[in-house]
Amino acid sequence: MIKQYTSKIIGLGKYVPDNRVTNDDLSEFMDTSHDWIVERTGIEERRFIPKDSPEGTATMGVRASEQAIERAGIHKDDIDLIVFATLSPDYYFPGSGVLVQDLMGIGTCPALDVRNQCSGFIYALSVADQYIRTGMYKNILVIGSEHHSGGLDLSTRGRTVSVIFGDGAGAAVVSRHDNLDEGIQSTHLHSEGKHAKELSLIGPNTKKWVHEVFENYDPDDMDYHPYMNGQLVFKNAVVRFSEVILEALAKNNLEPSDIDMLIPHQANLRIAQFVQKKFGLRDDQVYNNIMRYGNTTAASIPIALCEAWEEGRIKTGDHVMLAAFGSGFTWGSSLIKWV
Ligand code: UT7
Repeated sequence: MIKQYTSKIIGLGKYVPDNRVTNDDLSEFMDTSHDWIVERTGIEERRFIPKDSPEGTATMGVRASEQAIERAGIHKDDIDLIVFATLSPDYYFPGSGVLVQDLMGIGTCPALDVRNQCSGFIYALSVADQYIRTGMYKNILVIGSEHHSGGLDLSTRGRTVSVIFGDGAGAAVVSRHDNLDEGIQSTHLHSEGKHAKELSLIGPNTKKWVHEVFENYDPDDMDYHPYMNGQLVFKNAVVRFSEVILEALAKNNLEPSDIDMLIPHQANLRIAQFVQKKFGLRDDQVYNNIMRYGNTTAASIPIALCEAWEEGRIKTGDHVMLAAFGSGFTWGSSLIKWV
């Protein structure tokens, strides 16, 4: 008989830069205000890597990973696979997963990069879960890390996008587990490419190649700045978050009231509050930290999961629901029976 496995998170880590940027700080660069940002998004401050710092997407991923590995009680050489989710890789290629591997001195295990933006961590977790279920790997390091601040348009022109995003990293060690009723019970993934450009950074790309940036760079060419159709994203987000949470509940024969902790991707506090209200969840059943970090896309779920765990808000036996929506559009969920 083929042995069956499930996977469980055995260690969590996070890292955010020390440099706090308040809404008032942003209003020195652009026409915005603390009240506008708090009312529309719930964000009070975010962290930005200082301009002259060598810190980047991979190095933040390393810091989060080292903490996760230490808490997991394993050695870095026990890692069989690195899965790295980001929309802000250090290089165009190679991906940041191999950079983490090199910086941490982790032998020659495979390193795989995932490009699914705000849903990146859930996509990455699903990859890890599948490799563990097949028995191929035992310990997988899953990382979400984002260095947004380097690419944001911090003028009034970019304010709709730039006030939302922040820098940071989170990591999880996902490991083989024998009790099929515990650990990651299911993952659910979706994409809808017809909205690809509605939340995107188009250039540089293979048609507008890098030399153009140097030779003909036009600071008014909006292809070189992140673009977001905020209202369309918001409307789709509230629908897709709800759908994919229901999908995970149905798959596991659970009701919304069975969710002990919902960790939503920290897109906008208003989106999380809409979902909370729709499912009738109490405040203690939902974790939000967007107030302090802004939206860190692929890093937001592992940072929030790590903090919720550190604060003792996730206990053995809890049903933990992860859910995300973002650029692509992509969305997903994961139901974990915490152990
Ligand atoms: O993680 C990926 C997923 N992303 C999301 O889930 C984000 C979803 N979208 C949103 O969260 C919201 O659409 C935003 C927070 C981005 C924007 O809120 P909104 O209520 O949709 O604002 P809006 O874009 O419709 O703009 C309303 C007004 C406009 O002024 P007028 O045309 O009414 O005079 C904007 O120019 O607010 C203005 N505005 C700002 N004012 C001050 C836009 N950005 C700002 C700003 N500060 N930062």
